[in-house]
Amino acid sequence: MTRKIAVLPGDGIGPEIMDQAVKVLKALGEDFEMEFADVGGVAYAHHGHPLPQATLDLAKAADAVLFGAVGDFKYDHLERALRPEQAILGLRKALGLFANLRPAKCFAELTQASTLRPEFVSGLDILIVRELTGDIYFGTPRGRRQAPDGHFPGALEAFDTMRYTVPEIERIAHVAFEAARKRGRKVTSVDKANVLETSQLWRDTVTEVAKNYPDVTLEHMYVDNAAMQLVRAPKALDVVLTGNIFGDILSDEASMLTGSIGMLASASLNDKKQGLYEPSHGSAPDIAGKNIANPLATILSAAMMLRYSFDMNEEADRIEAAVQKVLSEGIRTGDIMSEGCRKVSCSEMGDAVVAALG
Ligand code: IPM
Ligand code: MG
Repeated sequence: MTRKIAVLPGDGIGPEIMDQAVKVLKALGEDFEMEFADVGGVAYAHHGHPLPQATLDLAKAADAVLFGAVGDFKYDHLERALRPEQAILGLRKALGLFANLRPAKCFAELTQASTLRPEFVSGLDILIVRELTGDIYFGTPRGRRQAPDGHFPGALEAFDTMRYTVPEIERIAHVAFEAARKRGRKVTSVDKANVLETSQLWRDTVTEVAKNYPDVTLEHMYVDNAAMQLVRAPKALDVVLTGNIFGDILSDEASMLTGSIGMLASASLNDKKQGLYEPSHGSAPDIAGKNIANPLATILSAAMMLRYSFDMNEEADRIEAAVQKVLSEGIRTGDIMSEGCRKVSCSEMGDAVVAALG
């Protein structure tokens, strides 16, 4: 069975890290059909839009999308609708990718890279389940107007709308509880129910859904407390379930516990198991083209693709074991370099993973 993958390298370090993931996928010797397309700033430069129709059509027709990174300072002056980030938001919306899985796992070999003391992070294994197509990101109305009331009536104001419906909360909660069943059987649902209506509905709904999972422990946590617990006692967390904006913020915080954002993969899934897979880090334009970026997050994202969209668990295990092997052999890109290890380039790291596939 041929699996069709839309490969969207994007901007900055996107193309070089994507080359390594493609190399690893090819080395598996499976039947993948990979088709490349422009996305982000490079797509704007070539086609006048960060998410050209042809790219969107390709993504929709594919079984999965492998995404590099988008964004570059040179596009910061563009109006919002044409900025590179709109490509990822547009893909999430168009494909209905409501479930964002962001694992934050601390590899034993890399505990030194964390800014927290090793005893707080060694063995850390958190899965953030972030709702990705609702909330203040997509809620309407939004815009600018003359303030109708408030502290400065008549002044120019801007507004966004935080919104969630019960079915939106239910479906992401199910994803979190199902995931918890395969892990530590604990869900921490994060909200701001002491202040926000949206969050109170979130909390009530998650509590209802939890009744279907008596074998999973549910706790509720306010988002400010969650931000604190992530650095105070992160190992007490297993699955963290949260909305779009809180998940955006907390997943960056969680990534840093592991020491290197260059190691973290992510998956965004819809209800047809079609998914978009991308490293959690950005396009890092300052180091683009230098062949020094860490491709492991992209390679691990490809492994997630095999696991979640293609049911190819064995091949996913092979890639993850190869990454583990490379780390235990002391092979490192600059971002995770430590004493006594061997520093390699981005492409050498890709080669090392291919060699370790065995
Ligand atoms: C992320 C990013 C995006 C988001 C941006 C690029 C729109 O920060 O995937 O976390 O806010 O969701
Ligand atoms: Mg973010």
